[in-house]
Amino acid sequence: MSREIVTQGTGPNPIQDARVLDVIARMNASRRFPPREAFDGPVGKDPEAFAEYGFSIHPDQGNLIYLLCRGLGAKRVVDFATSVGMSALYFAAAVRDNGGGLVIGSEFVPAKVDVARRNLTDAGLADYADIRVGDARETLRDLGGPIDFALIDGWPVADGASLARQIIEIVAPQLRVGGYVMNDNAEPDFLDYIRDPANGFISVTIPIKRGTELALKIA
Ligand SMILES: C[S@@+](CC[C@H](N)C(=O)[O-])C[C@H]1O[C@@H](n2cnc3c(N)ncnc32)[C@H](O)[C@@H]1O
Repeated sequence: MSREIVTQGTGPNPIQDARVLDVIARMNASRRFPPREAFDGPVGKDPEAFAEYGFSIHPDQGNLIYLLCRGLGAKRVVDFATSVGMSALYFAAAVRDNGGGLVIGSEFVPAKVDVARRNLTDAGLADYADIRVGDARETLRDLGGPIDFALIDGWPVADGASLARQIIEIVAPQLRVGGYVMNDNAEPDFLDYIRDPANGFISVTIPIKRGTELALKIA
């Protein structure tokens, strides 16, 4: 959740569909972040208090998601969390361009889900997303079958294990061997999990934002 406002990717855009690109551009143009100290205020880390902010992924992360999902032939992917739908757009474009599939999204704040669904509809991608409203620790427990890719783009919690760590423990057993996990916020306990060979992943750290961990499930 970097505060640097970035509106386009570093290189060429792998998505070709002008309708999708228009929605991504519109979302990037209205991108903004709350003041850095906002999480220390009286509302703390309550996601409802930040309903008007997208905290969207960096365009380079989105382009990489699209490219990798196309290469994998991904059909079923997980988007944690969805917010107003930026990462969901990249995923949905990829599964659509792969011939069809489903993005299983999760978002706690209902107002954000409404915006995400509108964005997906405007991009012509509504048929490729099932955004589950509520706490991802419940809504992602049963993904209905193996998945090809998961984004773990979490949210701060007051104490205990990070959401990223809690969610990877729920999602990893449902990811197929050969599938990928991308993480946005480099939560230390998430990195401990994904870098522990006992958990069946190998990973690299890509220099996007503070370090974007990209992991491949090998066992
Ligand atoms: C960093 S944002 C996701 C940005 C999104 N991937 C994108 O690129 O547009 C994190 C989101 O997690 C949501 N959230 C926080 N706690 C959650 C929970 N327990 N379950 C589901 N979503 C949650 C927040 O409301 C926030 O919208």
